Amino acid sequence: MAPTTLTALAGEKTLQSKFIRDEDERPKVAYNVFSNEIPVISLAGIDESDGRRAEICRKIVEACEDWGIFQVVDHGVDADLVSDMTRLAREFFALPPEEKLRFDMTGGKKGGFIVSSHLQGEAVQDWREIVTYFSYPIRARDYSRWPDKPEGWKAVTESYSEKLMGLACKLLEVLSEAMDLDKEALTKACVDMDQKVVVNFYPKCPEPDLTLGLKRHTDPGTITLLLQDKVGGLQATRDGGKTWITVQPIEGAFVVNLGDHGHFLSNGRFKNADHQAVVNSNSSRLSIATFQNPAPDAIVYPLKIRDGEKSVLEAPMTFAEMYKKKMSKDIELARLKKLAK
Ligand code: SIN
Ligand code: FE2
Repeated sequence: MAPTTLTALAGEKTLQSKFIRDEDERPKVAYNVFSNEIPVISLAGIDESDGRRAEICRKIVEACEDWGIFQVVDHGVDADLVSDMTRLAREFFALPPEEKLRFDMTGGKKGGFIVSSHLQGEAVQDWREIVTYFSYPIRARDYSRWPDKPEGWKAVTESYSEKLMGLACKLLEVLSEAMDLDKEALTKACVDMDQKVVVNFYPKCPEPDLTLGLKRHTDPGTITLLLQDKVGGLQATRDGGKTWITVQPIEGAFVVNLGDHGHFLSNGRFKNADHQAVVNSNSSRLSIATFQNPAPDAIVYPLKIRDGEKSVLEAPMTFAEMYKKKMSKDIELARLKKLAK
């Protein structure tokens, strides 16, 4: 398929059929009808060894058990860094198509720019452009795949990656302790932790009720930190997946969600939150997801199986195997759905 950008389609009056989802997948709740049910936790005092730390940890653990998704504020990542990162990311997506396509990653390149659904050649496409790059381990940084425009982004993004890696590890320490393990246990289970940044840009959409910015999924990795602008569009489920709610955007907050790896390591105690992104016709939306994933050859198996519990996994496997299994299951489900039509 010829490389393209979505921004070019944002001015059209109707949605091209390749973006139209089956009815059961379409948005059920508006992008701007917010719910405040998802816990918002202040991390102020988390580094103190007094009662405040214990209270904060209790809230984090409870949020992971109940939801697998929550927001953190007072997280210690500098507000100027966060706003620089957001501003530069927006500037990238505002570049002319030919500039963005200089980093085109169709054809399996590791990192760069793409209209997201071209990643897996899916039949129905997401209404989303992304720019993505690998930031950890440091040896995996391929700067030739990091956008060189707008100027100054490389330095900002390096610093952002480092701070977010620190925050993710801090949260994983809390969860390790809650499992009665050494505080490094979850990070060690990742072996040499990977970090991938995905900057999502959702242009204004002519018929947002028919499509999704990003289809329903759980993240495959250990823990994700998502920064979103004030527009709104991130949705999570409750009631065992029956009801959708739109997460209230909070300026400067990070939405934290656990992925499949985090879920398996805790033997299912911590949820891997189901989520999706919806779009709208009033404004574009930007979100920046920073994924902390295990190394591909890290072994995935519960670190703690409590008395009376069975393992949620039949046998240990590597993260690469786990990921492949997840992807082939998704493809198979899409195929069966198509056949059933
Ligand atoms: C994601 O799930 O990676 C992004 C969701 C969002 O843009 O809100
Ligand atoms: Fe996600």
